[in-house]
Amino acid sequence: MWKIKIWTKLLLALLVTIVAVEALVDRARDNGDIYIVSHYTFDGDIDDISTTTPKPADPDYIDFDEITHICNASFITPISNVLTFNSTGSLPDDNDTTSMCYFRCFFEKSGLMDNFKLNAELVRKYVWPATGDSIEYCESQGKETETNGCIRGFAIVKCVMLRALTDARNKPTV
Ligand SMILES: *[C@@H]1O[C@H](CO)[C@@H](O)[C@H](O)[C@H]1NC(C)=O
Ligand SMILES: *[C@@H]1O[C@H](CO)[C@@H](O)[C@H](O)[C@H]1NC(C)=O
Ligand SMILES: *[C@@H]1O[C@H](CO)[C@@H](O)[C@H](O)[C@H]1NC(C)=O
Repeated sequence: MWKIKIWTKLLLALLVTIVAVEALVDRARDNGDIYIVSHYTFDGDIDDISTTTPKPADPDYIDFDEITHICNASFITPISNVLTFNSTGSLPDDNDTTSMCYFRCFFEKSGLMDNFKLNAELVRKYVWPATGDSIEYCESQGKETETNGCIRGFAIVKCVMLRALTDARNKPTV
């Protein structure tokens, strides 16, 4: 008899968890294929739902590792492409739309970009201290001409990366 009770409880707990997970997934889907989960880190592991994750002290905290994981799950991109892009602002293959989608996803999910608009505050905090018209200039990339969201998003990310790399190189040497 007690066994049945325990099993009933377990089953109930599992059902509640599944319903919760499905609700979260549905909510995410409602926002389209690229949705922001910057402050939410569900990695598909049901066990994580029931435990409370400690809130990071920094309200702008972004779990970049988690975002890498999520974006790479949808748009598998070799780490070498990420490293190449990070150091040159270019991809090994100019027409690699999967990697473009990956970088767009990375910027969108981290909150650095929302619907092709850069979050100037977060970009300055995490990427580089954008000055002048950099933000507006990068946002305008592909605006009139590009209908593919990944290519347009990547053009903006690439612009940000190139400016960040250039500014870093231009640091005055005293
Ligand atoms: C993406 O996943 C593949 C295989 O699952 C892995 O080889 C690759 O290093 C991952 N890329 C990144 C950027 O983590
Ligand atoms: C990208 O480059 C910056 C320095 O320019 C470095 O701090 C960062 O860790 C690099 N990211 C990756 C994923 O290699
Ligand atoms: C990329 O595509 C363009 C035209 O769509 C083509 O001219 C170019 O050779 C391609 N580049 C690579 C590296 O495949």
